[in-house]
Amino acid sequence: MTARDQFALVGRISGGRVIDPGSGLDSPADILIDERGRISRIGRSGSGASSVESDGDVLDATGMIVAPGFVDLHVHLREPGREDEETVASGSAAAARGGFTTICCMPNTEPAIADQETVRFVLDRALAAPGRVHPIGAITRDREGKSLAGIAEMVAAGAVAFSDDGAPVGSAGLLRRAMQYSRMFNVPIVEHCDMPDLSADGVMNEGLVSTKLGLRGIPPVSEEICLARDIALARETGAHLHAAHLSTAGSVEIIRRAKAEGVNVTAEVTPHHLILTDDLIARDFDPLYKVNPPLRTRRDVDALRQGLADGVIDCIATDHAPHAEQEKDGEFDLAPFGMVGLETALGVCVKALIETGLLDWPGLIDCLTRRAARAFHLAAGTITVGSPADLVLIDPDAQWRVTPESLISKSKNSPFLGWELTGVVRATIVDGRLVYQDFAAGSSLSTAARRERSVTSTAKR
Ligand code: DOR
Repeated sequence: MTARDQFALVGRISGGRVIDPGSGLDSPADILIDERGRISRIGRSGSGASSVESDGDVLDATGMIVAPGFVDLHVHLREPGREDEETVASGSAAAARGGFTTICCMPNTEPAIADQETVRFVLDRALAAPGRVHPIGAITRDREGKSLAGIAEMVAAGAVAFSDDGAPVGSAGLLRRAMQYSRMFNVPIVEHCDMPDLSADGVMNEGLVSTKLGLRGIPPVSEEICLARDIALARETGAHLHAAHLSTAGSVEIIRRAKAEGVNVTAEVTPHHLILTDDLIARDFDPLYKVNPPLRTRRDVDALRQGLADGVIDCIATDHAPHAEQEKDGEFDLAPFGMVGLETALGVCVKALIETGLLDWPGLIDCLTRRAARAFHLAAGTITVGSPADLVLIDPDAQWRVTPESLISKSKNSPFLGWELTGVVRATIVDGRLVYQDFAAGSSLSTAARRERSVTSTAKR
């Protein structure tokens, strides 16, 4: 019994444009879901009009896109330790609102997810969450960078990847050993690429804007040197390196060359690095724009977009980083790094990638689903008969305004407050259960479902 069992079971989703990049499907289709919440059939729209596989509700997806539930490889859930900012349950609910059905949570909690007990603790909390949550274990004990954490025991407990995110592993020797070890378990080593002696005390991108503002900068080369070092180690050890939140044009080129050479490397980019630039900080010194790695320049944004479109960057990951209002709403210098992103990811990516003509809907969905799942070897991100029904229904042309009240996350530190975004998540389904829905009043899903169901049962009689 999990929290999902309390949500309504969906029996059929009809009339939507089903986009599944994994199978190449992009056409009107009905999806049937059985009693166990698994996909039992994908059929031509209307062909199974009178059939429901289970007793579940019928969702009318006319005018909507039906896609695999999104997969986010980079989320900060703050539990244990800062449950005032986010919990496993509240973060998973925010994820569902954003269309994500699978999220991976970073270990920079208090205490860090650095042993078997804490991995188990998070997985236990995940039983009360609407979506799937996979813990990422720390590479080093307590994320202190001094000795390796118990990687084997954490893999056994269910950790899917390893990272000291928030900081890189400073010691090349230690990282090399972690990589050698990770190969035995086929798990990625996720690096927050940064050279602390280059970025120390920096609060934003180093460049013209930081110079004008008199703020200490974090130079692009700080990310790029660390990435180059990590790639050298991945090349030597054969381990899988996953580069978190790329932020510079130079990093895209480094990944491009490494991949061409056959190094086992994958990379992600955040929605905010695909759209925001450092000059926004000059406008109002708002700490909502303070993030690590920092927002860079237009040239970097363009290179990151192109890198994603080319497939050099594997996927989009939010780096959802909730922070308490009293900590974020202060002096720029003192505010913590990070911004929430789960709920705005889709709309921001539509603006950055679809409205600019770089990707179409199947292309964007691929970056949020199959390409992400593949990077971490997760069994998710596709619509397959026999697999759990993890799906999202998107109203592609509908718009919404981001306000603090519109966000489910416990923290509201979004730089997109006030933005009008296109692309509304209308329903999120995990294991065949409707864990999130947002249908306009009057066209309530359950009303439609009840009506359809009674028609179906009348027809059956
Ligand atoms: O901006 C960030 N916030 N970058 C990180 O690497 C960590 C994250 C956090 O945990 O707040």
